[in-house]
Amino acid sequence: MSGRGHPIFAALYDIVAAPAERRHFGAHRRDLMSRATGRVLEIGAGTGVNFAYYPRHLTVVALEPDTHMLRRAAPKARAAAARVSFVQAEAEHLPFRDGVFDTAVATLVLCSVASPLRVLDELRRVLRPGGQLLFYEHVRAATPGWQNFQDAITPFWRWVGGGCHPNRDTMGMLRRAGFVATTLEHLEFGPYPVRPHVKGVARAPAWTPPRPG
Ligand SMILES: C[S@@+](CC[C@H](N)C(=O)[O-])C[C@H]1O[C@@H](n2cnc3c(N)ncnc32)[C@H](O)[C@@H]1O
Repeated sequence: MSGRGHPIFAALYDIVAAPAERRHFGAHRRDLMSRATGRVLEIGAGTGVNFAYYPRHLTVVALEPDTHMLRRAAPKARAAAARVSFVQAEAEHLPFRDGVFDTAVATLVLCSVASPLRVLDELRRVLRPGGQLLFYEHVRAATPGWQNFQDAITPFWRWVGGGCHPNRDTMGMLRRAGFVATTLEHLEFGPYPVRPHVKGVARAPAWTPPRPG
């Protein structure tokens, strides 16, 4: 992402998403965040929509590179029952020691990061062995026709959608990164190209640092 981020996308995000949040996302966010335990890292926290759903006792580190998103997320952090602090950084380079988080959260963000496999490797590194990644993502379609449509529209969609790729095989990438993912729900929700959606929990086996050389 550029240093400046996406001011228009950030300004419109809550407004455009509001109807879908009420009708659909809110319930899934509530369900997913109720599963968070211990020390929590949320990546790509955006405007902070998840903050309201974290249980009171939690400590949440919200990572977000975009200054415009961070500005909008700050009031939601102050209003949250959980203790939320911010780190401005990209998830490809997490500024944390190994194994310090019990839970990681990624909602509608693995579509937007520049290098999802690098991000997943970093999440494995900072999660303790057996820690959990709670995810809600729109993913690659199952049928070739819709896959072709997603591939064709991705360059335009990235441009209007703050870097969002509608065509990512996120479940496949979770497996390649070594996570053991359980899909809680497969949701045929929303219009193509950002359909279908998956909600799940992925467990992180022990992470071993790459051997030098
Ligand atoms: C579609 S928004 C989702 C925001 C929020 N997670 C939600 O569920 O509403 C994607 C977010 O990912 C952030 N993002 C993009 N690239 C990133 C990266 N490399 N590391 C971390 N976050 C990133 C964007 O700035 C944006 O806030």
